[in-house]
Parts: sequence; C-alpha cells; structure tokens
Amino acid sequence: MIRLQKAISDSGFCSRRKAEEYIINSKVLVNGNIVNKLGSKVSEKDEIIVDGNAISKQEKEYYVFYKPRGVICSTNDDKGRKTVVDFFDSSKRLYPVGRLDYDTTGIIFLTNDGEFTNMMLHPKNNIPKVYIAKLNGIINGSSIKKLKDGIIIDKVKCIPDRVKLKSTDKKNNTSIVEITIHDGRNHEIKRIFESVGYQVLKLKRESIGFINLSGLTSGKYRKLTIKEVKQLYAYANDKKTK
Ligand code: URA
Repeated sequence: MIRLQKAISDSGFCSRRKAEEYIINSKVLVNGNIVNKLGSKVSEKDEIIVDGNAISKQEKEYYVFYKPRGVICSTNDDKGRKTVVDFFDSSKRLYPVGRLDYDTTGIIFLTNDGEFTNMMLHPKNNIPKVYIAKLNGIINGSSIKKLKDGIIIDKVKCIPDRVKLKSTDKKNNTSIVEITIHDGRNHEIKRIFESVGYQVLKLKRESIGFINLSGLTSGKYRKLTIKEVKQLYAYANDKKTK
C-alpha cells in the first residue's frame, strides 16, 4: 500500500504537490468514491481517477543522454528552445535528473522515477561528476592549488575531488582542465573557475559515478540497464556521508 498522492505522482500524471491539491479539492476518486484526505493509502488494484482521468501505473525508465550544446535541461521552455525531452518519444513523460547549462554538453540522465532522481541529486550521496573545461588563459599552479583547497560558492566551501591540468595551448591562450565535483550547485564549474580568474569557454560532463558516454554520440541516448540502476543505488549508499 502506498499513499494516494504518491500513487498519482508515480503515474507521471502530475507532481506529488499537485496530486495533494487534487485530493484536497475532492477531484480524486478511488474505486468510485471521492477521497479528500491526504493520509489515504491505495494498492495497485485500486482504480484511481484524477479530475476525470484514469491513472495507470507507469513503468519506470532510465536513460543516459549525450546532451548537445544549445539544448535546455527542462521539460518545456517558454522561449521555445529545444529541450532534452524533445529527443525522446513524448509519451514517456521523462524529465532530466538535474541540469546542465544550455551551452554545456555531455552526460545527463532522464527518468520518470522521482526516487531515483532524489537519490542521484541528494548532496549527501556525494556522487562524483567529471567535467572537462576549456578555459581562456593558461592556468597557473597557484590557481590550481586554490581550487584544490576549496572555493566558497553560495557560502559553502566546494572542494573538488580532483583537479587535473590536461593540456595548454599557448598559441590560442587556452587550457583544458579535468575537474571532478560531487555537489551540484548552479553553474558550479563556471563559478569555480571564475573565482580564480578564468572564464569557461567550453564545458562537457564526461561521467556521473561510474557511467560515462561510451558508445554515445551527441544527441543520442541509451537505456540504463536495471543492473546499472541497482549499482547506482549501491554506489550512492557507499559514497554517502555517514
Ligand atoms: N557547472 C556549470 O557551470 N555548468 C554546468 O552545466 C554544469 C556544472
């Protein structure tokens, strides 16, 4: 048995908060009877109708997507820009797990499973994400040391798990740096580098935990296997701040 609002949101019909509103406003029928109390529980066998729509349990799906540049991580965009869900069959009701900026490329998961999303995004789970950043300028050793010592972002000290200078291009005055972080603040990588005086010209996320982009090209996706999903839960549990 699960809570009625969870059964509704699990179906992908709407968010849990919206489901609560439907319940309170007497818009939900369970086996033909109005249920307007939030504590009620239902089983898979119960017939649920929300605002005239029959709810069916949605199969959980998990994808790894290689996000191209110029695509927004959202389910819709009021400016009409292409979104990550535009690459998928629209009947799936998927949404992105977290965000990459419009101009950032690389790995992002999409799912219809709220529990998986919470697990992947919860800061306590410390899931590492590896980024490759192209910077304007040749980064020096003292800046790299400052990054390794930690940068204050949103009043919190962010200490990258790893910072590695991959190459420099003296002619074009650029550097390529691999940086691994386990939190996910807004524009975190760009802000980290800006704090030591470098602008990020290009940014790509290469991996999330042990999942990378191998076998994918820009704009393509693959399903995560159930085994991988289970391994991600185990991985998060392992990395968790105890
Ligand atoms: N950090 C950023 O600055 N941008 C992203 O897209 C992801 C992490």
